[in-house]
Amino acid sequence: MLFHKMPFNYVPAKNLLDEKIVLITGSTGGIGTALSMKCAELGATVIICGRSIAKLEKLYQSIFELGLKEPLIYPADFLGTKKDDFQILTKKIEKEFGKLDGLVLNASLLGNLSSLDDYSEKMLDEVMQVNFKSQFLMTQCLIPVLKKSESASVIYSSSSVGRKAKAFWGAYAISKFTTEALVQIWASEHENISKIRFNAVNPGATRTKMRAQAYPAENPRNLPTPEKVILPYIYLLSADSHCISGQSLNSQDKP
Ligand SMILES: NC(=O)c1ccc[n+]([C@@H]2O[C@H](COP(=O)([O-])OP(=O)(O)OC[C@H]3O[C@@H](n4cnc5c(N)ncnc54)[C@H](OP(=O)(O)O)[C@@H]3O)[C@@H](O)[C@H]2O)c1
Repeated sequence: MLFHKMPFNYVPAKNLLDEKIVLITGSTGGIGTALSMKCAELGATVIICGRSIAKLEKLYQSIFELGLKEPLIYPADFLGTKKDDFQILTKKIEKEFGKLDGLVLNASLLGNLSSLDDYSEKMLDEVMQVNFKSQFLMTQCLIPVLKKSESASVIYSSSSVGRKAKAFWGAYAISKFTTEALVQIWASEHENISKIRFNAVNPGATRTKMRAQAYPAENPRNLPTPEKVILPYIYLLSADSHCISGQSLNSQDKP
């Protein structure tokens, strides 16, 4: 596995993502919301994606009220999406923008923390559908519009249990191993045929709903906020990381 480190003390330039079109799944969650806001602040047009229209509208409003580029809303519940839905999305992006510069596959379902002996088949299907299959199909369908970008970047949100599995993390850990595999396979297959880069980011323990679900006894105040872990995503979305592909970054690496 290849672990790349972002330059220590990396500071994004003010208009780093100007003219970029960036789609972020899980925009309504902790890390996705912080990342969507930051991308918009840095000049990108963001396509915000989540399953709750009310939460998407709230995020749209926050971006709009700051006078940033108007975002696009793409509501999707990955438990129900099919390849056809992503093909329709691709056509819409092609028509509206002619290209896609950034794709962040960040939505995930934790599922039950339980032993594999007892892991339910239904939960296995749901976690793999949201965390793996939908992300794979979405990426596959969007490749043609990513190819239209001068320098496209695809980023998957990974996890430390996608690199070293732990007891009771079940399908979630397995799905994050598939995330790391996807990155390596896409990156090596595209090395010589396109300018698309594929990387993973492990944000590490972060103060979000998912973390609280996994560790209910933990004090969230002891954890970094989502705003503190998004810098590697910004780095990978930008031209500053133009030759980085097939790598796994950690948001909470120490220098
Ligand atoms: N927080 C951590 O400590 C941590 C550590 C390592 C890795 N990660 C990874 O970081 C990423 C972001 O997680 P987070 O901590 O920000 O979690 P979060 O706040 O729970 O957000 C998860 C996001 O995924 C969306 N989602 C869940 N099921 C979905 C479905 N069926 N269809 C569409 N969207 C769905 C959620 O939508 P709703 O808003 O509708 O629920 C939400 O937007 C995940 O990939 C996670 O595995 C997090």
